[in-house]
Amino acid sequence: MKTTDVKAYSNGKENGVRLFVCKSYDALSAKAAAIVSGEINKKANFVLGLATGTSPIGLYTELARLNDEGKVDFSRVTTYNLDEYYPIDAENDQSYRYFMNKYLFNKVNINMDDTHLLNGRAPDPEAECRAYDEAIVNAGNIDLQVLGIGCNGHIGFNEPGDKFIMGTHLVELTENTIEANSRLFNSADEVPRHALSMGIGAIMNAKSIVLVANGKNKAKAVKDALEGEITPYCQASILRLHKNVVFVIDEDAASELTEYKPL
Ligand code: F6R
Repeated sequence: MKTTDVKAYSNGKENGVRLFVCKSYDALSAKAAAIVSGEINKKANFVLGLATGTSPIGLYTELARLNDEGKVDFSRVTTYNLDEYYPIDAENDQSYRYFMNKYLFNKVNINMDDTHLLNGRAPDPEAECRAYDEAIVNAGNIDLQVLGIGCNGHIGFNEPGDKFIMGTHLVELTENTIEANSRLFNSADEVPRHALSMGIGAIMNAKSIVLVANGKNKAKAVKDALEGEITPYCQASILRLHKNVVFVIDEDAASELTEYKPL
């Protein structure tokens, strides 16, 4: 990665979200991986929060490469993922467990028992959510949470609405999401109608947060999150109340920002 491929920006506010704008998806992935691996290397028994989706695939590929080269060690890393469909079997190739195994866990020296996702077949989803929150607290909270952002500003499956939900919870998917996801399943009937999602509480309790976003279709969500009102109608906007957040995004995703200037 050339240093010119990544530029630091600031909106001049103390404690503001730190922003890196990258020339390409590869530069974005390398920058995010450098931050994540740097943090992992600083602390034993690291608790890493993870996201699925297309945005972090490059980050995970880069982390796997760094692991392969001996530059980051996952043997004492514990992970908690943001969300999982409900109901879904872990073996289903659309499950987020399947995704994580494929893109990260099978490629690094992590102990599989230390990788946690919400159970898409939990008999009692409420109990599953409470146990997940308790496990995160008992682990000492998340050291670094990786996030993507939805086009509507969602983080995890925390969708726009009139409130921020703090705890892990069962989410009813909107018809739009079901339809968007149906292309990945054999038929729309197979798309799960619900998901389990970490709430805003565990995300905001993370000691640091790295959000990755690329593409023009994310520009409005990034603008609303960083420069709009802090409101549950853009769930990511709450990240501005956190003291240690970095956005690592490409030029397209940054294209609507007006308040940030190069450092
Ligand atoms: C996935 C998740 C979602 C995604 C978001 C962006 O675990 O929590 O909030 O981060 O929908 O998805 P992509 O990266 O596919 O655009």
